[in-house]
Amino acid sequence: MRVLVSGGAGYIGSHTVVQLVAAGHQVVIVDNFANSKPSVVNRLEALTGEHLPVHAFDLRDRDKTEHLFTQEHIDAVIHFAGLKAVGESVELPLEYYENNLGTTFSLVRAMQRHGVDKLVFSSSATVYGLDQEAATEDRPTSATNPYGWTKVMQEQILRDIAVANPSMRFALLRYFNPVGAHASGTIGEDPQGIPNNLVPYIAQVAVGRREYLSVYGDDYPTRDGTGERDYIHVDDLAAGHLAALTRLTTMDEPVGVWNLGTGQSTSVLEMLHAFERAVGHELPHRIVDRRVGDVAVSYADPGKANAELGWRASRTVDDMCVDTWRWQQANPHGFPD
Ligand code: NAD
Ligand code: UD1
Repeated sequence: MRVLVSGGAGYIGSHTVVQLVAAGHQVVIVDNFANSKPSVVNRLEALTGEHLPVHAFDLRDRDKTEHLFTQEHIDAVIHFAGLKAVGESVELPLEYYENNLGTTFSLVRAMQRHGVDKLVFSSSATVYGLDQEAATEDRPTSATNPYGWTKVMQEQILRDIAVANPSMRFALLRYFNPVGAHASGTIGEDPQGIPNNLVPYIAQVAVGRREYLSVYGDDYPTRDGTGERDYIHVDDLAAGHLAALTRLTTMDEPVGVWNLGTGQSTSVLEMLHAFERAVGHELPHRIVDRRVGDVAVSYADPGKANAELGWRASRTVDDMCVDTWRWQQANPHGFPD
């Protein structure tokens, strides 16, 4: 298939592009580089050995999106583009609603006009709100912050469009906690500013960019008192997108919803210790207050994706840390400008 990857220069999009090309698909990238750098594309071309067409514009621009679909033949869309920082979404709710909903509106409008009927959408475990333990897809959705509401709303919008256009096929993929990097060490997660998320923060402590890890609370009702999450290797996650794309070609019902997680939970201290094993020495940390809005435990029931997509996450937490460390060591300041 010729697949349009929105947000293809971003963290998860870039890893998915590599696998799409390896599987024989053609890729077209659209990204406005709001949270990524053009040099990602050079790395992707080096990794895939292919020239990758890139359209650099803001997907909220309907005319440019329409023009893209006129210029390029597209069979399916994987829609990663969006803003994703929970704290920032509380400060800038209008930007989050405008960007995340607006990109989906332009894309789906252009798809309809050009007869493109398959879309894979990046949703999140955040749609389970406060109820994220052993989450199954039939659980009611809700959210605790504007970012989360944009995901709940985009899922609903896509469901409504599918009712009105029964030939459309949508995959709603609810990611748990993506971490890790491509085994080559040439692409990985490159957060701008101070990382919000655990593994990128530990990696920056390990490489000497941050002094110590702040562990947000050790009084949760968990194995060791620290928060537990379902970390999934970004290459396992990327493989889930290829499986969903294949599934869309044979699906009878218009919408499929799948959790992409491992089903295992790892605590903050367990993740820190796994990273220490990858680095070969201890890393400094301090226990501090809980972070407002955090749940104690979050992990998927991935059974539906395992059964219906024929997909399963296979990489371990140690694999995730080894690969993150390889990427961070080779690129201490992320992608070049
Ligand atoms: P990312 O920020 O690395 O990638 C998103 C890409 O989209 C960036 O390259 C950015 O420049 C681009 N983009 C943003 N707004 C755009 C616009 N208006 N027009 C064109 N391009 C635009 O994020 P990621 O971690 O790769 O996440 C991808 C998707 O997965 C997002 O929708 C995110 O909400 C979702 N998700 C991510 C996580 C996670 O932990 N990383 C978890 C659950 C869901
Ligand atoms: C966060 C988002 C979630 C998003 C997910 C993507 C919040 C409240 N939630 O989830 O919506 O889908 O990222 O991966 O931001 N921790 C520390 N010290 C740190 C950073 C994190 O102790 O410096 C702890 C957290 O308290 C948590 C765990 O590490 O227990 C994981 O945190 P993080 O990587 O931010 O992910 P989530 O909170 O699960």
